[in-house]
Amino acid sequence: MFKLTVNGQALATAVDPDTPLLWVLREEARLTGTKFGCGVGMCGACTVHVDGHAVRSCITPVPSVAGSAVTTIEGLSPDGKHPLQQAWIATQAPQCGYCQSGQIMQAASLLRDYPQPTDADIDAVMSGNLCRCMAYVRIRKAIKLAAATMQEAPHA
Ligand code: FES
Ligand code: FES
Repeated sequence: MFKLTVNGQALATAVDPDTPLLWVLREEARLTGTKFGCGVGMCGACTVHVDGHAVRSCITPVPSVAGSAVTTIEGLSPDGKHPLQQAWIATQAPQCGYCQSGQIMQAASLLRDYPQPTDADIDAVMSGNLCRCMAYVRIRKAIKLAAATMQEAPHA
């Protein structure tokens, strides 16, 4: 039995030790905002936070996060109004939307480390999050808008 916290809720699971965290999030916790893309750590669609750090849940075995706090897109903000989520809406960043939960979770990690990111910072941190719809320009715009908003009114 592995115990972890997901979006502030205790979760215990008896999955096989080689089960990826993504499966537990989607199939047991029913948190389907986190997406399966490549399954091999190459696209970022499955990005969540573990103890505040962005990780790829498709290649993260559940035992490695036992005792940790996991945050998914559903838990990024209690009301879905994190500055990043609002900026994503304001800039209409998504196209099909499939990659966007991972993009936002990676961006949240970026802004934690670089509150006012340069283009180079964004490239360095976000370049591994792929978007088949090529929404990269709008994603960058949304990140900068969220950074500006958070500078004015830091998010709790
Ligand atoms: S689904 Fe995890 S990195 Fe692509
Ligand atoms: S918005 Fe379609 S894959 Fe990114």
